[in-house]
Amino acid sequence: MSKPSELQTNPADFSEVDVYAVAGNPIAHSKSPTIHRRFAQQTAQAMHYGTLMPELGEFAKGAKAFFAAGGKGMNVTVPFKLDAQALADVLTPRAALAGAVNTLWQEEGLLYGDNTDGAGLVRDLRAQGIVLTNASICILGAGGAARGVLGPLLEQKPQSIVIANRSIDKARDLKTVFQGLADMHGVLLTVCPVDALGSEPSHTAMDLIINATAAGLSNDSPLSDAIAQQILKPTVFAYDMVYGKITHFMQQAINQGCRVSDGLGMLVEQAADAFLLWRGAALAQQLNARAVLDELRQALTTKAP
Ligand code: ATR
Repeated sequence: MSKPSELQTNPADFSEVDVYAVAGNPIAHSKSPTIHRRFAQQTAQAMHYGTLMPELGEFAKGAKAFFAAGGKGMNVTVPFKLDAQALADVLTPRAALAGAVNTLWQEEGLLYGDNTDGAGLVRDLRAQGIVLTNASICILGAGGAARGVLGPLLEQKPQSIVIANRSIDKARDLKTVFQGLADMHGVLLTVCPVDALGSEPSHTAMDLIINATAAGLSNDSPLSDAIAQQILKPTVFAYDMVYGKITHFMQQAINQGCRVSDGLGMLVEQAADAFLLWRGAALAQQLNARAVLDELRQALTTKAP
């Protein structure tokens, strides 16, 4: 295990190239350096991408020092996305709606904050052949992960999105935040306690169910087996934002004959969006996010016991 001191990226050590970093705590497990270094190779960009591990409660100090030393841009992961939002001078509309920032950069003395998680999810779903326009979608969870992706999903003009959460109050709060956007795009946005899923006919005719709860991390599923059997019809595409393993939710979906996906593609696609924000949208022609995803997937499979 690397010592924290080895995880600090100082732009002054790389004076010849533009320096970027991902900040999180812990950070040693992060795949972002691998992903961004591959993007830099694909697009022939002279840049260094390292890691930063601020102490808990010291994100602002670490980020300010990084940018003061010439850092060009930063990705932000757990647990600092809210701190990054608070630090940014200017938020993109989608970052403001998401309530969190995963991408920072400096422009004319101002720190800009964006959130590319939702766009990354949408791109990954599209790449897997999922049509979101007019789709019936269920999002399991009403925490930060769900909030981060709701805006870009609504912009795809699905027919409906139901936010299903264990605590219904959190789902209602989220609905309030996104109701205006849902109305603008003509989307029926509803909430439901997760144990009441299946109680309405529309719940058994979903096209896409996204697990945005933290349950997968502890090998749990937000769905009881009884509810899973009711709503996970073979025509459902079941997506878990957790990556690198078949979660309990994914296994329930496989048992029902559904197509499933973990969130590794979302991780790569959100990184691609951040990379293009920093280095210029024109590089999209040369950047091949799906090839990087295949390489990561291969590495994960090779490592599996
Ligand atoms: P994150 O930022 O990762 O979304 P969070 O804000 O703590 O994390 O939210 C976690 C989400 O996972 C919540 O929707 C939580 O449900 P509650 O709001 O009812 O707590 C959900 N969650 C976590 N563990 C769960 C479990 N075992 N079953 C169902 N939902 C779970």
